Amino acid sequence: MTGQEPTSVYIDTTKPHPARMYDWFLGGKDNYPVDEEMARQLLTLDARGRDMARTNRAFMHRSTRWLAGPGGMRQYLDIGTGIPTEPNLHQIAQQTAPDSRVVYTDNDPIVLRHAEALLRSTPEGVTEYLQADAREPRSIVEQAAEVLDFSRPVALSLNALLHFVSDEDGAYELVRDLVAPLAPGSHLVVSHVASDFDPEGAEKARRLYAERGLTLAPRTREQFGRFFDGLDLVEPGVALAAEWRPELGERVEVTGDDPIPGWVAVARKP
Ligand SMILES: C[S@@+](CC[C@H](N)C(=O)[O-])C[C@H]1O[C@@H](n2cnc3c(N)ncnc32)[C@H](O)[C@@H]1O
Repeated sequence: MTGQEPTSVYIDTTKPHPARMYDWFLGGKDNYPVDEEMARQLLTLDARGRDMARTNRAFMHRSTRWLAGPGGMRQYLDIGTGIPTEPNLHQIAQQTAPDSRVVYTDNDPIVLRHAEALLRSTPEGVTEYLQADAREPRSIVEQAAEVLDFSRPVALSLNALLHFVSDEDGAYELVRDLVAPLAPGSHLVVSHVASDFDPEGAEKARRLYAERGLTLAPRTREQFGRFFDGLDLVEPGVALAAEWRPELGERVEVTGDDPIPGWVAVARKP
């Protein structure tokens, strides 16, 4: 594990952090009053915040099952991992292929503090945690190459991450720079908050984040699809999170009939 030792990690509890708010939505205990307060404000815009988090997490489970099974992936680079929440990506991948190698990355120190849970690999496999910022893709690839063999396919997952990176901050460029060093046969997996269903609500959420010095960049289906330029989308292509290969996992019960506003897709590098 690179960076500081978990015990010396400084946690800023004066402002909300996306990893801790997501943990609150998922019913976790690794969050602070400031995170809960912000999460509750978001619930006033869309009361289904918990449904969104659970639906997103369930997509991660199903897409990882697909990658480890029909996708044939044995190496994973997961950026924006979040606070460990069982099952974590390596547990799902290693259930199918115990020799899977997984590198996790996040820039929030609270994830580093809890990273130990991400490092409990099968004996045949490997897991590693890097404290790094997605906006420095070259440095991530360089460090990840100590564990992953980039001459072979890697599954790159950017789940619920890119809506925290604005266009101005280089969201599209960072995806391009992360995909460029991947071998043919690699896969890109992305889930992302959608702005198409309630543009006004999305804009209000963006402002709530901005008032706290945070970035939120919900995107339309078309803007989301551009992350996959040059790649071959795996069936069913760009989809709502709940509609991506539902047969591969548990059904998430949600409130009401309106779609949970999150785009997802998996694509293969030719
Ligand atoms: C909503 S959580 C998603 C967790 C997990 N990927 C999932 O989908 O279940 C988003 C994560 O992205 C991380 N994150 C946000 N911006 C980041 C950046 N620039 N670099 C690395 N991680 C980032 C946050 O700290 C948080 O842990």
